[in-house]
Amino acid sequence: MTHAIIPGSFDPITLGHLDIIKRACALYDRVTVVIAINADKEYAFSKEERIMLAKDAVKDLKNADVDSTDGLLVDYAAAAGFPVIIKGLRNKTDFQYELKMVQINEELSEKRHSRRVFTMFMPATKSLSRISSSYVKKLLANGKSCKKFVPNEELLKKLYKKRP
Ligand code: PNS
Repeated sequence: MTHAIIPGSFDPITLGHLDIIKRACALYDRVTVVIAINADKEYAFSKEERIMLAKDAVKDLKNADVDSTDGLLVDYAAAAGFPVIIKGLRNKTDFQYELKMVQINEELSEKRHSRRVFTMFMPATKSLSRISSSYVKKLLANGKSCKKFVPNEELLKKLYKKRP
């Protein structure tokens, strides 16, 4: 069985993320969205909320599931039997950032598991390449609609209102 993981912060999940997940589902038998923690980021939504939003977004995809990790991505990948890691790329900035992540993860994987971890880049669909979680959060903060950019605006707005 082929297995791919799509790790990220998903703070919150967008239609851009969902497009990458759907396309990965057409290529792999199983696709796991992994809600991870980037120590450099402050999150607007808790891990549980990000999981809830991601689960709701993939509920109609038969071969997609959602999981999370508080640890290193390579430790998650090792425990899962080294599935391929998929990352979506919208632009040059994403590419530069993700290439750095690939290099960090390859080094960590060799050191901690004596095994190479593989990352595949998937280019974003052009019409979705301007969508970002940061932009969605700006719209939410200003009480504007974000339904063109997220799969689940109602749930997102409900969770956003509940924040401390
Ligand atoms: O796109 P994101 O939000 O930065 O994705 C988060 C994550 C953890 C998948 C990414 O930052 C990554 O690949 N990091 C590699 C190092 C790692 O595993 N960090 C987690 C603990 S600090």
